[in-house]
Amino acid sequence: MTASLLLVGCGKMGGAMLQGWLADGMVERVVVIEPAGLPEVARHPAVTVAAGPDALPPGFRPDVVVLAVKPQVMDTVLPAFQGLARPGTVFLSIAAGKSLAGLARRLGTGAAVVRAMPNTPAAVGRGITVAVGNANVSRESAMLCDRLLQAVGEVAWIADEAMMDAVTAVSGSGPAYVFLLTETLARAGEAQGLPADLAMRLARATVAGAGELLYRTQTGAGALREAVTSPGGTTQAALSVLMASDGLEPLLERAIAAAAGRSRELAG
Ligand SMILES: NC(=O)c1ccc[n+]([C@@H]2O[C@H](COP(=O)([O-])OP(=O)(O)OC[C@H]3O[C@@H](n4cnc5c(N)ncnc54)[C@H](OP(=O)(O)O)[C@@H]3O)[C@@H](O)[C@H]2O)c1
Repeated sequence: MTASLLLVGCGKMGGAMLQGWLADGMVERVVVIEPAGLPEVARHPAVTVAAGPDALPPGFRPDVVVLAVKPQVMDTVLPAFQGLARPGTVFLSIAAGKSLAGLARRLGTGAAVVRAMPNTPAAVGRGITVAVGNANVSRESAMLCDRLLQAVGEVAWIADEAMMDAVTAVSGSGPAYVFLLTETLARAGEAQGLPADLAMRLARATVAGAGELLYRTQTGAGALREAVTSPGGTTQAALSVLMASDGLEPLLERAIAAAAGRSRELAG
């Protein structure tokens, strides 16, 4: 399946996706609108640059318009693309907190719109994106969006858009929690007498290695944890602190609730 695409915004996430599509060979043509200048990846024979929505190649009818600008500018950017809303074209937005109804209001009620929430590991092809489409999205368009999103990692579809706040809190913001875990693990190692550089090296390799183990095996996280916990051993001593009633679980529950609440507030 090859497709023709319009990419609006080629920053960190748009650039990562473009890289994935080109590596995949799945796009026949990509027109990119990006005022900040194009990343190296965009210098490819399949990529054409347009200065703005008024400078698209004549007769260009993309299968997918990927909207990868910041949420704050989305509302002002969208109306200029209303003319592309027609059967056979789907708008795929990756903007955090921008609802299907809000996007369709600015594109026209007949527009087929998919709202997706990727996360930063997309930059290395290991993201996870959650997607939801409005009633105008055909099966074919949904499959095409799925394929485009898979170029930067896994994809899960939901039927209920209300879940997006929790998705944002878990996987959208989630990489930051793991980076914080790495930082605090290193600092705790320093507190036990390790030099800072060794402590960070250990923390980094441990988080990355444990993540890779989770990724490569079908074994659940709980079973992997139990496998490294011998009764009365060192891991169990740490877990008895982390799994106490005031340990990690209630802390993360509060953190995720705060992120989901903020996501609901931002969506207005
Ligand atoms: N990064 C993530 O981890 C992540 C995760 C989930 C979702 N997202 C979503 O992905 C979207 C993009 O985020 P990002 O991190 O990739 O931001 P970014 O690096 O700032 O990329 C956005 C790009 O869009 C450009 N732009 C601004 N106005 C434009 C216009 N009128 N037409 C075309 N391009 C325009 C910006 O150029 P200027 O710099 O000149 O303004 C910038 O290069 C956001 O909506 C965000 O919510 C990102």
